Amino acid sequence: MILVTGATGQFGKSAIDFLLKNGISSSNIVALVRDEEKATELKSQGVVLRTGDYDNYTSLVNAFTGVEKLLFVSGSDIMNRNAQHQNVVSAAKEAGVKHVVYTGFLGKDETETSPLWIVIESHLKTEAWLKESGLDYTILKNTLYMDFVPAFLGENVLESGIIYLPAGNGKVGAVLRSEMAEAAVNILTSSNHAGKTYCFTNHEAFSYQEVAQYLSEITGKTITYISPTADEYGQTLSGYGVPADFIGLFTGFAVAQASGELEIVGSDLEQLLGRKPTSVKTFLNQIYSPTNN
Ligand SMILES: NC(=O)c1ccc[n+]([C@@H]2O[C@H](COP(=O)([O-])OP(=O)(O)OC[C@H]3O[C@@H](n4cnc5c(N)ncnc54)[C@H](OP(=O)(O)O)[C@@H]3O)[C@@H](O)[C@H]2O)c1
Repeated sequence: MILVTGATGQFGKSAIDFLLKNGISSSNIVALVRDEEKATELKSQGVVLRTGDYDNYTSLVNAFTGVEKLLFVSGSDIMNRNAQHQNVVSAAKEAGVKHVVYTGFLGKDETETSPLWIVIESHLKTEAWLKESGLDYTILKNTLYMDFVPAFLGENVLESGIIYLPAGNGKVGAVLRSEMAEAAVNILTSSNHAGKTYCFTNHEAFSYQEVAQYLSEITGKTITYISPTADEYGQTLSGYGVPADFIGLFTGFAVAQASGELEIVGSDLEQLLGRKPTSVKTFLNQIYSPTNN
């Protein structure tokens, strides 16, 4: 049996869809959910539901019992993630899980000086716990989800004609979340991945200057990129009533990109998918092309 954690979330749901597409029987797929009410679609797909919470160790041991492979989708509660992830790794060990595939995060700077330390600290700790656990593990170091680019651009980007983000000229090798989920499933359903770490990035990185240029081409409107300082950006967003947590996270990613932290490209994902990941230009075209809307 293969268990997917975070199964009510976007990565987990996508992974379960790919497991089913790859011919894994729904009765061999277990979805870890906190709330079965959120899992009606999974239930209708015939997927086995088990309830469990990263905060509740016993619930995890019970849910993981009889599971051979576990897709451990990292939690979204950044402030409590260390203890939660330690629970998941220990529970997998106690329940006799054989192989854990973990969704981590990829940045160049893996020290406290990283602008994304608040995000990456628990990922790095989890990687270490997995390595020490004696479990078979595969670590997926995921770059930024390309799906977040429209959020960075803001919902009024075409009306305003301005991309306003403190990302400087930095680039990011972002990838669609669904393609990372697809590759994770290809790992779960094939062999020789134990003990390996894969960097899930695109084959080319892009800047917001390039995004502005692509958007201008796609929409026929002039889109201009302005890179304010992080302070100016924070003050502007705050003026629009954006919550401080969001401002912190958006600023962290943009500043990390500005410093070159996220400019990592490679071919791990391409090899696991058997094709090049979707480019940002194609993605922007899908979202913003007047012929697609
Ligand atoms: N690489 C990137 O750019 C990037 C960006 C954002 C996030 N991430 C990471 O990738 C993960 C998956 O992304 P996503 O888009 O699928 O996120 P998502 O849609 O927010 O899904 C998060 C999942 O984690 C579950 N979860 C949260 N806390 C839990 C807990 N205490 N116990 C058990 N399950 C818990 C949620 O359950 P409920 O449905 O019950 O809330 C949900 O199923 C995120 O959680 C985060 O760690 C990466």
